[in-house]
Amino acid sequence: MWILGHRGASRDAPENTLSAFKLAFAQGADGIEFDTYELAEDIIVFHDKTLTRTTNGQGEVLDHSLAQLRQLDAGERQQIPLLNEVLGCCDNTALCNIEIKQLASVDSWLCKLDRALQLSQMNPARLLISSFTHGWLQQIAQRRPDLCLGALTATSAETGLKSAMAMNAYSVHFALDVVDERYVKHAHQAGLKVLVYTVDLPADMQRLAAMGVDGIFTNVPAIARQTLTDAGYLS
Ligand code: G3P
Ligand code: CA
Repeated sequence: MWILGHRGASRDAPENTLSAFKLAFAQGADGIEFDTYELAEDIIVFHDKTLTRTTNGQGEVLDHSLAQLRQLDAGERQQIPLLNEVLGCCDNTALCNIEIKQLASVDSWLCKLDRALQLSQMNPARLLISSFTHGWLQQIAQRRPDLCLGALTATSAETGLKSAMAMNAYSVHFALDVVDERYVKHAHQAGLKVLVYTVDLPADMQRLAAMGVDGIFTNVPAIARQTLTDAGYLS
């Protein structure tokens, strides 16, 4: 079962920063998950629509230029990272889940993704691109069938599954409170991997491992590694 650092090891380091991603790998994560916005100049790694919770800035992310955003402190005096900087933290065995929170257009987003891959030298086969906005994923699937896609669903597991199948996704990503054994089985029968967010409690980690899910997003990769190893799910 894969352990994916949710916004990095975000309990112990500022979320969606380079230190959080490096810490996730140091804590034994198999990969990382992070959130992205497309700006005119580049793709940045950031979760909220507004700056207040995680930086010393104010207002909406999209009302700022890249230069303005890069002057902010995203925690422990770190900049909001660019996509290529985060991909550069991953070795070629790590799974990198890019969640698209916002894009300007699928074509411009794909151009920026390709540039980030080139700059970071990351292997595109290790990328998993997800979003709650399945329309974007469907367009990406049509243009770039080589990329792995993950359909995110927050409320209806049924709808998420149908949508994942329709776009020929690699995976379906269920919220912890909607997943159950039935949906895991259906997804596997349809050839989809099942990932679950956000899983921080050892009891949930063990329950999901017993259900046969393929991976979890967790803010605490070290706890996940220890729990699943002790319970015999990982060696
Ligand atoms: O990708 C799983 C999870 O991160 C989705 O929710 O709000 O934490 O981005 P959120
Ligand atoms: Ca996310």
